[in-house]
Amino acid sequence: MNSDQRSIGFNFRLPTKCWLLLCLALFTACASAQSLSGRWAATGKTLDNGETQRSLLEIKQDGNKLTGSIQSLGFSNDVEGTVHGTHLEFFGVGWNDKKPFLVADLVNGELRGTMWGDAFVAHPATDADAFPKLPHVAPPALHKVPYNGLAATPPMGWNSWNLFEDKVTDQVVRTMADAMVSSGMKDAGYVYVNIDDTWEGTRDANGVLRSNSKFPDMKALADYVHSKGLKLGIYSSPGPRTCAGYPATYMHEKQDAELFAGWGIDYLKYDWCSASSIYKNDDLQPIYQLMGEALESTGRPMVFSLCEYGMGDVEKWGADVGGNLWRTTGDIRDDWDSMIDNIHRQVKTAPFAGPGHWNDPDMLEIGNGHMSTDEYRTHMSLWALTAAPLLAGNDIRTMSDDTKSILLNKEVIAVDQDPAGKQASPVKDGNLERWTKALADGGVAVGVVNYGTTPAAVTISEKDLGIAAPIASARDLWAHKDIQFKKGAYSTTVPAHGVLLVRVRIR
Ligand code: GLA
Repeated sequence: MNSDQRSIGFNFRLPTKCWLLLCLALFTACASAQSLSGRWAATGKTLDNGETQRSLLEIKQDGNKLTGSIQSLGFSNDVEGTVHGTHLEFFGVGWNDKKPFLVADLVNGELRGTMWGDAFVAHPATDADAFPKLPHVAPPALHKVPYNGLAATPPMGWNSWNLFEDKVTDQVVRTMADAMVSSGMKDAGYVYVNIDDTWEGTRDANGVLRSNSKFPDMKALADYVHSKGLKLGIYSSPGPRTCAGYPATYMHEKQDAELFAGWGIDYLKYDWCSASSIYKNDDLQPIYQLMGEALESTGRPMVFSLCEYGMGDVEKWGADVGGNLWRTTGDIRDDWDSMIDNIHRQVKTAPFAGPGHWNDPDMLEIGNGHMSTDEYRTHMSLWALTAAPLLAGNDIRTMSDDTKSILLNKEVIAVDQDPAGKQASPVKDGNLERWTKALADGGVAVGVVNYGTTPAAVTISEKDLGIAAPIASARDLWAHKDIQFKKGAYSTTVPAHGVLLVRVRIR
């Protein structure tokens, strides 16, 4: 150090405020200068089975642009994002999400933020953070799994996911079963009480999967649900992990099917999720067949619900693997656009619906609060017209009168449960769309949806109904009143996003 430098050091004076600003600028510059490129080991929330959620982020930084991948046990996906200063955001490639699934800040060499809404912290990864490579198990040769004789009409019940997600517990299920009876849901035909993801614990030394502390005794819970005249459903995945990151049936298919049968389970929802990290999508059919057969070999009839988001033309082979229903879409949300999008994705599957095997546009959102009563009536009508499973996703214990009047509308339920099992298809006309479903008695149910944002005049013409005889009687299923077709037509006004649902009888 020479005397000049010293004199600069001693004589250079700035007001305190400026020093602070300068320090902040320098800190920000240094922090953002640290490259994010590399592997980051993230730890997130503690799951209900005591395990900690872990993932590995592989990041490549090019200026503000970030690319890379995210990996966890049995799961990996490419990601892309941006960094501005110390703040970064990531989207999953191919997920079409509007919001980033990961947001974080670089703080003292660590990434801190939220991933899928849960807090996480990530530090530069070491080899010890790598996930074991899981073996690819050769899928079985294809053959038909015999029909289990269940779901002659679309399954009806309740499922925990839409409202409770990971908050579902034994107590929630018991009280929901009570409410299914006291509210009249059971009498209306809703019999399955289905536990979705996050019930899983860990496997013991013999590979036996246990439920976690939220479900202290699954057999006792099944006995309770059965004592109410209801049936109990459960959830798992063909992959190593469920969608919420819990242990699933990979390499334990038969063992888990027997466990479920032993508990007294009546219904299995089987969700692809992490199976995509082990198998190719071409393996969907044989891998679902594996579980279809495992269920069959237990000797206990269990409804088999395939959840593969409509991939792989499932409607063409779902019944061959022993499936009673299969998802035709991604996850529904409690909003109009999502509900309508799901029902339209269902359209191409119409020829494949029938007794014993159904196309599933996902569970109901009726009563969850983010659609209007008219929109929920449309939701129920479209599910009934398309012979979709009716799995309520709301809180049955505290239903409003409006929600009850929709879920418990027996005339609409009868359309859904019609024994002919036909799935209606739509005909669009401007803002209106007409769905006509042929019924076992030779009549039809016809629904006209108003997509407009103002009320619309609607006319149903007898000639559009495809019936083989003149109309004997007709009924508006939401107004609960008989109506008259005059000169071969019936006209009325339908509210914005509302529906006119009419049942026409020919004898
Ligand atoms: C997937 C399914 C949902 C639900 C969750 C549970 O997203 O499509 O219906 O089962 O997994 O994690």
